[in-house]
Amino acid sequence: VTSGQPSDDREGHVIEIDRMAPGHVDACAAIFEEALGDLLRRLAMPPRSQAPEVVAETASRVRHLLATDPDGSWIARRGGALLGFTQVARRDDCWVLVHLFVRPASQSNGAGRTLLDRARGYARDATIGLIGSSADHRAIRAYVQLPGFRTLPTLSAVGVVRAERLDRSGLASVRDGDADDIVEMEPLDRRLRGGTRAPDVSHLLERGHRLRVLPGRGYCVVGPEMVDMLSAVDDDSARTLLVDALVRSDGRSTIVGRMTAEQQWALPVVVTAGLELRPWGPFVVRGLAAPPAPYLPSLSMC
Ligand SMILES: CC(C)(COP(=O)(O)OP(=O)(O)OC[C@H]1O[C@@H](n2cnc3c(N)ncnc32)[C@H](O)[C@@H]1OP(=O)(O)O)[C@@H](O)C(=O)NCCC(=O)NCCS
Repeated sequence: VTSGQPSDDREGHVIEIDRMAPGHVDACAAIFEEALGDLLRRLAMPPRSQAPEVVAETASRVRHLLATDPDGSWIARRGGALLGFTQVARRDDCWVLVHLFVRPASQSNGAGRTLLDRARGYARDATIGLIGSSADHRAIRAYVQLPGFRTLPTLSAVGVVRAERLDRSGLASVRDGDADDIVEMEPLDRRLRGGTRAPDVSHLLERGHRLRVLPGRGYCVVGPEMVDMLSAVDDDSARTLLVDALVRSDGRSTIVGRMTAEQQWALPVVVTAGLELRPWGPFVVRGLAAPPAPYLPSLSMC
């Protein structure tokens, strides 16, 4: 069943927008990997691993969002062939655009714009909006034009962590977190970004990521190759959590993603750990008096 009005692409072909179903998840994950791989190639950036566990992680995230936000998950087809998808997560008052991906052979033909229009229709009453943009100029172009959104340039840190130069004072207070900590940290994220990250933290923990907590001060989620989410009450607590995460990633290739100008506390830490800072896509926000800080968005889920 086509749930929306079909729209014409620029060559006059009809783009059909349908609700995503569980049977579409693997194909959407493949589009994500193909489109991101193509973008990294075009930007002459290091390729993304195509190890089975990386692709499985993508598919599990698509499935997670389809479960939490079935009405925010859409696919685009032309002539029956899947060419792209989008997923929005609603978390309290926060609308989060998590996925907008079009297969490379079908890009620049209106599918992305059509999917974005559909994504905007979901959770319209959410007062806050967040988008972690890629560095694709077409994505940035589309987000810059969204009414009410501010575009915040970002740096990402990448490289192999060398933890020996990090100042470890204060790390003894950081401990592993559990389900109770996830609940306890919800008010912090509601204050920083208008919505909980609890369902997404739980998802990442189910996938084997690790929750680290500075009791009453903040938390950080550490993935196998990334520092994936950090929220804290102040810069000192955020710095301690980031150092702890990097110490745990010592010797491993790691990404700390999408740091806006507000995350000055993080920049000296990541360069001390030997990572390289590089520009990446902007963090695009609506409805917040100030950008979230101290805060690291999830690479994949804001
Ligand atoms: C970003 C992406 C989703 C856009 O989808 P798309 O179908 O390729 O783009 P569209 O044809 O709908 O065009 C989107 C905008 O970019 C513009 N655009 C498209 N191709 C362009 C080109 N080659 N040069 C300049 N502008 C271009 C369009 O004019 C449109 O802007 P407008 O509405 O102001 O006219 C898609 O290119 C993609 O999957 N890229 C790689 C993955 C990625 O970065 N995803 C975003 C994650 S945040």
